[in-house]
Amino acid sequence: MDLKVFDKAVVPARLGIFDPSISFLHSQVALKQHTLDKQDSLYQDFLRFQTDFDNLPLDEYMKEGDTYRRRRFNEVLLRDEGEWISLTLKPLRGFYQATTVNGYSGGVDRIYQPLELSTISNPFLHQLIVDMYLLLPAERRGVSRVWDIGIHLYRITAQPDAPGHPVPEGPHRDGHEFTSITLVNRHNVEGGESLFFDQTATVRLRHTLKSPLETALFDDAKGLHDVTPIHCQDQASIGLRDICGFSLNPVKE
Ligand SMILES: [Fe+2]
Repeated sequence: MDLKVFDKAVVPARLGIFDPSISFLHSQVALKQHTLDKQDSLYQDFLRFQTDFDNLPLDEYMKEGDTYRRRRFNEVLLRDEGEWISLTLKPLRGFYQATTVNGYSGGVDRIYQPLELSTISNPFLHQLIVDMYLLLPAERRGVSRVWDIGIHLYRITAQPDAPGHPVPEGPHRDGHEFTSITLVNRHNVEGGESLFFDQTATVRLRHTLKSPLETALFDDAKGLHDVTPIHCQDQASIGLRDICGFSLNPVKE
């Protein structure tokens, strides 16, 4: 299924300009606040994207019957043809991580429900994928014209009497070339601080994604990462943290 073809000349500006002062050269993490003009049709698409997270099914691979995580998963192939970038939806397959990478739920093919048709065809999502790809350091991006992009939609829920754990496995690597996490919704939540460690397991960066479209993009092999539990700010209702994560891996041609 072909999703979209972009003219590269007009793509990069749609979701705002990357701040070049935060460089992969000095850190494994780049932070970006995507911006959208409310007059832009993509803003309406983003609002629809936000509501799609109300319809994520439970993650069936949680231990001890835990129900604080919901998710969907798909993969697309991104082809960079120079002036053009195209996105193609890949057939659904299991999501696999080795146990050495994910001791909590690795070692099995995890079959997650795909994104709904309205989500996978949403122009905002296509733009976010291409925007993230263009944020990769050019010399790393250039190793292949084809990239496999995994799309991971997560909702973590905190109950008044129980926190939600964005990363039940604790500090880990994902086993990808690059990973990005973009905040989509955050309601009634305290915590959820992202921690990035260097090779000596020292925390090099702490950052809490607070506003929708705020993103951390990181070079996965350079260190471990983790996210602290989320708690309800106001005990009268539940708390929600919704993330659109991408795994970005070059495909050998
Ligand atoms: Fe991770």
